[in-house]
Amino acid sequence: MHRKRIVALTGAGVSSESGIRTFRDSGGLWEDHDIMDVATPGAWERNMDLVMEFYNQRRKQLYGVSPNAAHFALVELEREYDVQIITQNVDDLHEQAGSTQVMHLHGELKKVRSSVKEDLVYPLEGWELKRGDLCELGSQLRPHVVWFGEAVTMIPAAAELCSTADIFLIIGTSLNVYPAAGLVSYVPSGTPVYLIDPGDLGVAHIPNLTFIKEKAGTGTPRLVKQLLQGNP
Ligand code: OAD
Repeated sequence: MHRKRIVALTGAGVSSESGIRTFRDSGGLWEDHDIMDVATPGAWERNMDLVMEFYNQRRKQLYGVSPNAAHFALVELEREYDVQIITQNVDDLHEQAGSTQVMHLHGELKKVRSSVKEDLVYPLEGWELKRGDLCELGSQLRPHVVWFGEAVTMIPAAAELCSTADIFLIIGTSLNVYPAAGLVSYVPSGTPVYLIDPGDLGVAHIPNLTFIKEKAGTGTPRLVKQLLQGNP
């Protein structure tokens, strides 16, 4: 039997109740850190130690947190649907929960890559990347994270997935960062879209939208229950 495909675009809010800070909420990471100092190729050139430390701290914290009810609810959905997760998050909480199809648009904290050849990607043992850790070509390893000003190479594949969605979910993203925020425009017209986020998001441009103005940890399990009962 053909299983309906659910594509879920997730952002920092889905991991917030696991204890990972979002970026743009009050108390968010970009309140304490200037993007230009830690999340651009120029920052890496100017101050590699600061950038490395910023991501080392994020990675260290990731070893101390666990998936929450929202991550687990998305795993439940796989019982009845072909669930494809497209996440902007660099954490691995979807995978830890058990989701089997997860695309990372902005990279992965637990991986590092060559600073001269971006397809040389390696898992990092432990949380700490150090100056002098080299790729097989002898160049410094850097975080496997897409920085501002860099291309999001997964976008064509993500857009293709969105164009095949029977149901589209958006969970915990401010939809501020492009090209990720533009993915919703690839969803076929007529496809039901559900957005779960407690924030006041400007979403007038999204057709067929049901806005569930709630935290992911409660809103997602409720929506998943409804979808499993066959009431999209
Ligand atoms: P933001 O920090 O921009 O937005 C977080 C969203 O999560 C907001 O809309 C909040 O209202 C919502 N939120 C907060 N708590 C929540 C909860 N408990 N449940 C559900 N939603 C909640 O994060 P992103 O949209 O993910 O990129 O940011 C996109 C990109 O900007 C990130 O991937 C990162 C950042 O710069 C890179 O680092 C490359």
